[in-house]
Amino acid sequence: MTESATGTKVELRFDGKLCIHARFCVTGAPHVFLANVQGPWIHPDAMSVEQVVEVAHACPSGAITYRRLDGQPDEQPPPVNLVSIREAGPYAFRAPLVIGGLDAGYRATLCRCGASKNKPFCDGSHHDAGFTATGEPPTGKVDPLPGVDGALKVDPLADGPLKVTGNLQIISGTGRAVARTTTAYLCRCGASSNKPFCDGSHSKIGFSTAQ
Ligand code: SF4
Ligand code: FES
Repeated sequence: MTESATGTKVELRFDGKLCIHARFCVTGAPHVFLANVQGPWIHPDAMSVEQVVEVAHACPSGAITYRRLDGQPDEQPPPVNLVSIREAGPYAFRAPLVIGGLDAGYRATLCRCGASKNKPFCDGSHHDAGFTATGEPPTGKVDPLPGVDGALKVDPLADGPLKVTGNLQIISGTGRAVARTTTAYLCRCGASSNKPFCDGSHSKIGFSTAQ
């Protein structure tokens, strides 16, 4: 369900399956992204292209992407690969992502409560599931890595965690460094006692990733 709208300097795309309704778009660019209207609701020319692009970058889920039509570069990879742990919500990744073997852009929100119907992506189900989990886990191993960027592989393991391979800084919801790692297994069943890391609890609770 990808929609797109072409303006004079930029084409905007919206993938509704990825949107987590954090509303950065309709609050950051209310004339570009019209809330609750019938018919066309994306108007790329309603703000300067620089502002439109900035709002797209703020979209945590990657639901909004763009293609510049004015000869300027498209979205660039972030300088440091990051995953932010959202309080009672998903993981918000910013990195050159390869999810399940497929290129997945530079932004994605992935389920960590176990309830999404669009795994490995968050679909907002944590609200209805009453998921509670801190966004401020204790600080762990934060020794600097030789590298901070480059491709980040996220492999959602069947009935188990997200296996993440590549340079990654794990940060809390408020931006504190929680860990720096090149391989991590991140809980996505919601039951680990050692969040954000998997502790094997998925087996005990019979976590199933079959959709
Ligand atoms: S996830 Fe992106 S598209 Fe969805 S509401 Fe938030 S900013 Fe808008
Ligand atoms: S995925 Fe949650 S404990 Fe392993």
